Amino acid sequence: MSDPIPSRDSFGSKFGVIAAAAGSAVGLGNIWRFPYVAGENGGGAFLLTYIIFIALIGVSVMLAEFIIGRKAQRNALGSFKKLSPGTPWYLVGLMGIVAAFVILAFYSAVAGWTLEYTANSITNSFQGKSPDQIDNMFDTFIAHPWRPLMWQGLFLIATAWIVWAGVKRGIERYAKILMPLLFILIIALAIRSVTLDGAMKGITFLFKPDFSKLSGGSILEALGQAFFSLSIGMGALITYGSYINKKENLSSSAIQVTITDAIVAILAGVAIFPAVFALGGNPGSGPGLVFETLPKIFMAMPGGYFFAILFFVLLAVAALTSSISVLEVVVAYVSEELNIKRHKATVLSTIAIAIPGVIAVMSWGATSEWTLFGMHTFDFLDWISANVLLPLGGLLIVIYTGWMLKTKEVKEELSSQGKYKVILFPVFNFIIKFLAPVAIAIVFLNSIGVLNL
Ligand code: PHE
Repeated sequence: MSDPIPSRDSFGSKFGVIAAAAGSAVGLGNIWRFPYVAGENGGGAFLLTYIIFIALIGVSVMLAEFIIGRKAQRNALGSFKKLSPGTPWYLVGLMGIVAAFVILAFYSAVAGWTLEYTANSITNSFQGKSPDQIDNMFDTFIAHPWRPLMWQGLFLIATAWIVWAGVKRGIERYAKILMPLLFILIIALAIRSVTLDGAMKGITFLFKPDFSKLSGGSILEALGQAFFSLSIGMGALITYGSYINKKENLSSSAIQVTITDAIVAILAGVAIFPAVFALGGNPGSGPGLVFETLPKIFMAMPGGYFFAILFFVLLAVAALTSSISVLEVVVAYVSEELNIKRHKATVLSTIAIAIPGVIAVMSWGATSEWTLFGMHTFDFLDWISANVLLPLGGLLIVIYTGWMLKTKEVKEELSSQGKYKVILFPVFNFIIKFLAPVAIAIVFLNSIGVLNL
C-alpha cells in the first residue's frame, strides 16, 4: 500500500521521546501558571486536587493521545480522519488546532516577559529596589506600548525557527542539557526560599489543605491546570505520538513525563510561596506573581545576580520547548492535510498565530478596553484554553479511545504489538471508558452550576 505522506520525521531514541514530551509538558505552565492559579485558589486544597487529577486522569489522557498518534502516524486532525474516516471525530482535531492558536497567543506573551526579565537581570535592574518598586516594575512593563510586543515577536520567531529546522536535531539536543539545569536551579531557589525568615507560612499555605477555600470553580481550575501543565487535550501529544517509534514503551514514557511535570510544579510552588509570605506579596496577585516574587528572592541570595540571569534564560528555554509543541500541532496539520510544504506552513502558521498574540500581549495597554465575560483578552484566552478547550478535548479523546477504538487495537498499540506487558491495562481501560469521562463531565457541570456539589 502506498503512503500518501512520503517521509515523516520521528524521534531518534527513547530519551529523545521523553525529552521532547517532557519539554512540551514542563514550561510556563509549571513555573508561571501553577503558582499563580494555586495562589488564587487557596493553595493546599488546590494542590491536592491538582495531583489527584494528574494521577487519575492526566496520565491516561496522555497515553490515549500517544496511542492515537502512534497508531495513525498523522497530525492531530489527520489521525482521526485516518482512524475513523467519514465520521465527525476529526472535529476533535480541529478543536485542538483552535486551542493551539488560543494558547500560543498568550503563552508567547508570557514567554516574552521572561526575555524582558532576562534583560533586566543582565542590567542588574532589580538591585536596590523595594518590594513595591519591583511590583511596579512589572505593572509598568506589561502596559508599555511596544516592549512586550517586541519580546513576543522575538520569541515567536525563535519558536518558528526551531519548528522550521525540525525538532530532532535542534531542540532535542539542547533540551537534554538545559532542562536538567533548570531543574537544579529551581531546587536551589526552593532552598533559598524555605530558609527565609517567615517562610513557614508559605509552606503551610501550599501544603495544608483548607477545603473551605475550594469552590466548584477551583476544582475546574485544578483540572484545567493539570491538563495545561501536561500539554494534554489539544493533540500536541497526538502529534508527538505520531513521531514515536513503534517499539518504544508508551506507558513508561507517559508516566515518567507526568512525574517530572508534577515535581517541577511543586518545586516552583515551594520556591514561590515561602518568598511571597516572607518578602511581601499577595499569593492571589494573578499572572504577575512569579515576575514580582522571583526578583525579590534573587536579591536576597548570594550570587543572585547570576542566578537571576540563568533562571530567566532557562525559563525562556522551557517555554520554547513547550511552544514548539503547540506550533507543531498547527504546522503538522497545515503541511499534511493542506499539502503545503513544511517551511511555508511554518511561516504561514506563525503569522496567523501572531494576530491573536498581538491582541493578547496588549491587554494591559492598547486593548485593555476589550473584554469578554468581564476578562480582558489575555485573561480570557488563558482561562478558556485551560478550563474549557483542554478538558473538553481531553474528554472527547478518552471517549474516542475508550469507545471508538477496539480494546484489542488499543492494547496492541500500548504493548507495542505484544513486546511489553501491560499489567495495568484493565485500570487504564476503566479510566478511559468510565472514570475520566464521568469525572470531567461532573467537574464541568458543577462549575457552570448545573450540578451543585
Ligand atoms: N504544558 C505546557 C506548559 O506547562 C503548555 C502547553 C499546553 C504545551 C498545551 C502544549 C499544549 O508550559
